[in-house]
Amino acid sequence: MNKQNALSDWSPDSWRSKPAEQQVEYDDDAELHAALDQIRVFPPIVTSWEVERLKSQLAEVARGERFLLQGGDCSERFSDCQSRLVDAKLKILLTMSAVLMYGGGKQVVRVGRIAGQYAKPRSSPTETRDGQTLCSFRGDLINRTEFTPEARRPDPRRLVEGYSRASLTLNFIRSLLSGGFGDIHNTDAWDLSFIEHADQPQEYERIIDGIRSAVRFLDASVGRTLGELRSPDFFTSHEGLHLEFEQACTELPPLRDRWYDLSCHLPWIGNRTRDPGGAHIEFFRGIANPVGIKLGPGMDPQELVALMDRLDPEREPGKLVLIVRMGADRVADGLPPLVDAVMRADRTPVWCSDPMHGNTYATADGVKTRHFDAILRELEQTFEIHADCGSHLGGVHFEMTGQDVTEVVGGARGLSEKDLHRCYDSDVDPRLNYEQALEMSLLIAHRMRSER
Ligand code: PEP
Ligand code: CO
Repeated sequence: MNKQNALSDWSPDSWRSKPAEQQVEYDDDAELHAALDQIRVFPPIVTSWEVERLKSQLAEVARGERFLLQGGDCSERFSDCQSRLVDAKLKILLTMSAVLMYGGGKQVVRVGRIAGQYAKPRSSPTETRDGQTLCSFRGDLINRTEFTPEARRPDPRRLVEGYSRASLTLNFIRSLLSGGFGDIHNTDAWDLSFIEHADQPQEYERIIDGIRSAVRFLDASVGRTLGELRSPDFFTSHEGLHLEFEQACTELPPLRDRWYDLSCHLPWIGNRTRDPGGAHIEFFRGIANPVGIKLGPGMDPQELVALMDRLDPEREPGKLVLIVRMGADRVADGLPPLVDAVMRADRTPVWCSDPMHGNTYATADGVKTRHFDAILRELEQTFEIHADCGSHLGGVHFEMTGQDVTEVVGGARGLSEKDLHRCYDSDVDPRLNYEQALEMSLLIAHRMRSER
């Protein structure tokens, strides 16, 4: 069966005949269509060449030749489209990738939850306060956080605004990277002051010293600094939640025989929208991009294999990224049957661990947080489960920021629940701050080195 035949029953709008979870009701059809028409004619945010490049790098991840780092905000805000904030997010991602590269001895594929991570699934479509019921906040792509009827009204003009800000953000990232963006391997530029507060600072220092001497050796042997040699690849991802938006970004590029969703390189399907008979699976089975699928507790192994057959009937290398988010207490039961079923089906997807979303809890004051130790515990178990099953963990997925926020408890500085109010800035899920993110990567690197 060739590709054309395989997809003869798919079109960019075939998802409309299936039940669609988590979609938005707009009250003005003409306004919605004007926004979508505008997006349709804008230049794409990414190109099909970049998408194919990512897919081939993910194929290397699946074979164990590279490691994947995916990270960024839970919910990116339009107001995050500022040079200072983008710069800080890019810096922490590149820093973590340098640490992971040293730890694993492999190149790292860097994928940001950035430049378009603007739409959020919610547990309830509405929110009630003091007897007033309004649409829930669904992310900046859809409405605003304030609890007023005007702010919570889904506004189609925000689709155009989101598209534009995603494009501005990525444009700045591309410029920073092609202009050198400092030499991220230069550890002198890293803020390492938290290390002295760690339980075993000497372990972290050993890794940092190792990176320093590796970089010195490379610079000396090549005769130029690593930073001068080439600009690193960087890819974007977001939850492909809003199907009207994703469809408007989908095209058949010149000289290609497949459709691409050019809103980002790697869209993913959320844990709440992966119903095999639903609209999201229908939409994403037809595009050529690599696709992520979030897998939470209760995922049935046979259903996973059927989903993979549906999304990737051609078994294309690098096509599927399975992002497992079970929680530290459930991963030991939930993950092995999935790995086993996928291996029996003779599939080699990228296995990625999202140790954030299964470990969220609310404090007694009702503040959403996660504990650094639970995140680490899920990751460590995941590494071990893959090793026991004869598989391997290909990547990690974090909610994190380059800022000094206080949203996740724990880490070297021992942030406690009392510290959360100090700088809690997320509208949705709690993120690792700069130091916690860097510390997490040092711990993963430590583990990877000890296993090599
Ligand atoms: C998220 O990644 O922010 C999210 C909502 O995840 P999940 O679909 O895994 O719950
Ligand atoms: Co989240």
